[in-house]
Amino acid sequence: MTDFDPARVEAALRAESIGVGLPLVFLRETESTNDDAKKAAREGIAAGSAFVADVQTRGRGRRGHAWHSPAGENLYVSFVLRPNLPVAETPPLSLVAGLAVVDAASRFVPIERLRIKWPNDVYLDGRKLAGILVEGLVAGERSSAVIVGIGVNVHTRAFPDPIADIATSLALASEAPLDRSEIFVALCASLECRMREHLAHGVAHTVRALAQLDYLAGKPVRIEGTEGVAQGIAPDGKLLVRTNAGETRSFIAGEATLGWIR
Ligand code: BTN
Repeated sequence: MTDFDPARVEAALRAESIGVGLPLVFLRETESTNDDAKKAAREGIAAGSAFVADVQTRGRGRRGHAWHSPAGENLYVSFVLRPNLPVAETPPLSLVAGLAVVDAASRFVPIERLRIKWPNDVYLDGRKLAGILVEGLVAGERSSAVIVGIGVNVHTRAFPDPIADIATSLALASEAPLDRSEIFVALCASLECRMREHLAHGVAHTVRALAQLDYLAGKPVRIEGTEGVAQGIAPDGKLLVRTNAGETRSFIAGEATLGWIR
């Protein structure tokens, strides 16, 4: 028996008047929900739609990484959003999605154990709980759709190499009964609310909301060939790094790896 029940999810979203997550397309198996969402977005599917799969055979992470997507265990979802933003303003949407994941996860584990690792990961007890892959469809200077792909580790208790020591799940951290339908509804509600706030009040508002959750702040990092210490996130969503040469640089995107050897 699966704990993702599309009919129950749709009913809950309607009952709570949540638009994000509807229409809901549930797939028993697919290669990647981001690919499904992107194709549907090109064909004009409505804003808010979500593609959820029980298993992904080619789940994708950022920078060509695979996303571990075993059957029946975790949440694999891609939302189609149409915020009508200039392309340059889409990268901070991964922070908005990160906040939504933290909101949903904090129903099961204390928020003090959750962090957002700029720009697209959610950490629990220092390990990766969720990953976010934001991809845009561009129409001229603006994005016609933004696909927000989110993978949340829910039930998996043993991860394969090479992620065995760096990944975690809600099941490994919480005694609470876990139900993917319930987590998904919470995620939709929060994403809707966080997106509304982001669009109304701007990136700086989102950055303020995650200041206490910043995993990298104060840690040594290496990003795009630069080594230094993370200094927090600037009001425009960029990562601030104080380099070893004493200069402060900002990064709009990139993979910030922790730690460096002097
Ligand atoms: C990352 O951490 O690099 C991002 C991982 C994103 C994984 C999700 S799972 C649902 C959606 N479909 C995909 O193929 N990828 C995203």
